[in-house]
Amino acid sequence: MKIEHASIIVTGANRGIGRALVERFVAHGASRIYALARTAQDLAGVVALDPSRIRAVQADVTNPSDLAHAASAAKDVTLVVNNAGVLDFGTVLEAEPATFRRNFDVNFYGVLNTAKAFAPALTANQGALINVLTVVALASMPGLGVYNASKAAAWSLTQSLRADLSKRGVRVFSVFPGPVDTDMLRGVDMPKTAPVDVANAIIAGIQAEQEDIFPDPMSQQIYSAWAADHKAVERKFATM
Ligand SMILES: NC(=O)c1ccc[n+]([C@@H]2O[C@H](COP(=O)([O-])OP(=O)(O)OC[C@H]3O[C@@H](n4cnc5c(N)ncnc54)[C@H](OP(=O)(O)O)[C@@H]3O)[C@@H](O)[C@H]2O)c1
Repeated sequence: MKIEHASIIVTGANRGIGRALVERFVAHGASRIYALARTAQDLAGVVALDPSRIRAVQADVTNPSDLAHAASAAKDVTLVVNNAGVLDFGTVLEAEPATFRRNFDVNFYGVLNTAKAFAPALTANQGALINVLTVVALASMPGLGVYNASKAAAWSLTQSLRADLSKRGVRVFSVFPGPVDTDMLRGVDMPKTAPVDVANAIIAGIQAEQEDIFPDPMSQQIYSAWAADHKAVERKFATM
C-alpha cells in the first residue's frame, strides 16, 4: 500500500501513537489526513503540523453517529487507522463491570463502529483498514486482564473483518505493539519504544503489505517466542 497521495483517517489522533502517525503520514506524502478525536479542540497542535493537509474531526469511536458524520465528510479515504484505545489496570475477578464496559466500548466496539462506518468508502477506493491491537492480545497478563480481553476480542474481530473485507478488495492490517512511551503507560517503569519509532514501523509494515505488524523489538521478540511455543508465553505472562 502506498502512503504517498493517500487520504487517511486516524482515530485518537490528538496524542500518543495516533499523533505520531499523523506526523509520519505527513512526512511520507499523504495528501489528506483526517485527525479524529473526542474533543476537536485537542487537535489544534496536530493540525498545526500541516494545516493544508490535516483536518480536525470530532469523533468519539463509541458513538456511531459521530463516525457516520466523519465518514460522510471523508469519502476519499483510502486508509483508516483504528488507533483510539483505553487501558485500565486490574484483574478480571476484581474489576468492576463498568471497567469491562469502558475497555470493550472503546477497544472492541470502537474498532467495529469505525470499520462499519468507513467500509463503504474503503470498498469504493480499494483501501485498507489498520487495527492497532497489542502484543498482549496474543497471551494475557493478568494485571491487565480487562484490557487484554478487549484487545483479544478485537484481534478476533480483525480476523473476521479481514476475511469479509478482502472479498471487497480492502486490505486489513493488524498491529501488535509492545510497551510504547505514551500517556497509556505513564508511571509504569519498563523499557518502552518511542511513539515515532512505532509509527515509522507501522508505515513500513503497511508499505511492505505485511498483514501482522510487530512494530518494536519487544513485540518482535514476544511474537517469535509465541510462534515457537504459545503455552510457554502464556505461562510466563501469568506470573507477571
Ligand atoms: N502505549 C502502549 O504501550 C501501547 C501498547 C500496545 C498497544 N497500544 C495501543 O495503541 C493505541 C494508542 O495508544 P497510546 O499509547 O497512544 O495511548 P494514549 O496516549 O493514552 O492515547 C489514547 C488515544 O485514544 C483516544 N481515545 C480514547 N477513548 C476514545 C474514544 N472513545 N473515542 C475516540 N478516541 C478515544 C484518546 O483520546 P483522549 O485524549 O480524548 O482521551 C487518545 O487520543 C491504543 O489502541 C492502545 O491500546 C498502546
